[in-house]
Amino acid sequence: MRFPVIGAHNACMKFQSTSRTIVSALLLLTGAACGNDGGSGAADTPAAPEPAVTAIWPEPDPATLAEGPHKQQVLYGEALIRETYAYLGADVADTEMRFAGNNLACSSCHLDGGRQRYGLSYIGVADAYPRDMARENEVRTLTQRINGCFERSMNGRALPVDSKEMEAMIAYIGFLSEAAPAGMDGRGAPSLPLLDRAADPILGAEVYSTHCVICHGADGQGKVLEEGQPGYLYPPLWGPGSFNNGAGMHRVIKAATFIRANMPLGVTYDSPVLTPEEAYDVAAYINVQARPEKSHLERDYPDRTRKPVDAPFPPYADSFTLEQHKFGPWKEIAAAGKTQDNK
Ligand code: HEC
Ligand code: HEC
Repeated sequence: MRFPVIGAHNACMKFQSTSRTIVSALLLLTGAACGNDGGSGAADTPAAPEPAVTAIWPEPDPATLAEGPHKQQVLYGEALIRETYAYLGADVADTEMRFAGNNLACSSCHLDGGRQRYGLSYIGVADAYPRDMARENEVRTLTQRINGCFERSMNGRALPVDSKEMEAMIAYIGFLSEAAPAGMDGRGAPSLPLLDRAADPILGAEVYSTHCVICHGADGQGKVLEEGQPGYLYPPLWGPGSFNNGAGMHRVIKAATFIRANMPLGVTYDSPVLTPEEAYDVAAYINVQARPEKSHLERDYPDRTRKPVDAPFPPYADSFTLEQHKFGPWKEIAAAGKTQDNK
């Protein structure tokens, strides 16, 4: 369904709605947010391969659980993931509970509490751990993986393994995963073809002002839910309240796959609005902005041959520049023997 976009740019600038459902519906109806000229010259981009869809996507709902302590624990886990800022955020009253260093929610990225297919879903994730992770070059548990997001995406510190909160999040992810048939796709986000050129933050700025600015703001700081309270209607994409430079979202390829399949809010992996080029360019634009810095990133990927091509910090096993690792072109790096282990 496509509506003519007449004066959409001006209309776009006037949106002041606090209902994100209304804003995203309007954006999707007009086809391309505020005007169709994404400006990336993406005409000859090869289409992304269609993800192999192997099964109906489940919609597990904790409300259906039998009353009792298990249900209470799963519901607590869900609350922690959807409203992380209210329980474990940087500004919670009990300073001991400030495990996150920002006021994001896990579901700022793991959409719909981790239930959205290819929206970094948690469905099926419980069964995928323990797994061998390149970042540490060792087998990591689900608990350790969650703490990886606390230390990076949430710019905070690890939760004790046996804390009530960690156990509740594990229970929730476990509950979601029970609904997943073995081998089901829909975790992470569908991969994109690598570009022949480098991702371009200048073109990305245009994509951003066309498709993203209305919610995330020209300054990238998003919009709070309620003035003076933690939590976001639209999360910040850079600056002190965002993920740090060691987060997965700070890798341009990884961010582009998430953005293409899920942004502007309301799109799904099978109805993207951005071209792959636009997704790469806007990811580059977001990731050239200032954000919190994680110390000792050089300790990540101790086996350098397992370092993802787009890891935005040295050292590398090859002699390609930091710039090329960050923005591409990546094909020649990949061809030179680097893996692209994403997890
Ligand atoms: C800024 C975005 C962001 C936030 C916020 C975030 N994560 Fe993540 N998370 C990611 C990315 C990116 C990945 C890697 C996904 C991939 O490689 O496909 C990931 C991976 C994970 C995984 C492994 C998923 C898999 O498929 O193997 C778990 C579990 C996880 N995160 C839990 C959490 C929890 C719990 C929180 C909140 C405390 C959280 N994350 C907050 C971005 C985020
Ligand atoms: C209609 C409003 C809207 C638009 C337009 C929109 N987003 Fe978002 N975006 C959101 C919301 C809301 C979330 C958090 C998900 C949630 O809370 O359900 C989010 C999350 C994100 C995240 C992960 C969270 C984080 O803190 O980093 C990224 C990255 C992102 N958006 C990038 C973009 C990009 C790039 C565009 C433009 C192509 C865009 N968004 C357009 C509403 C929007």
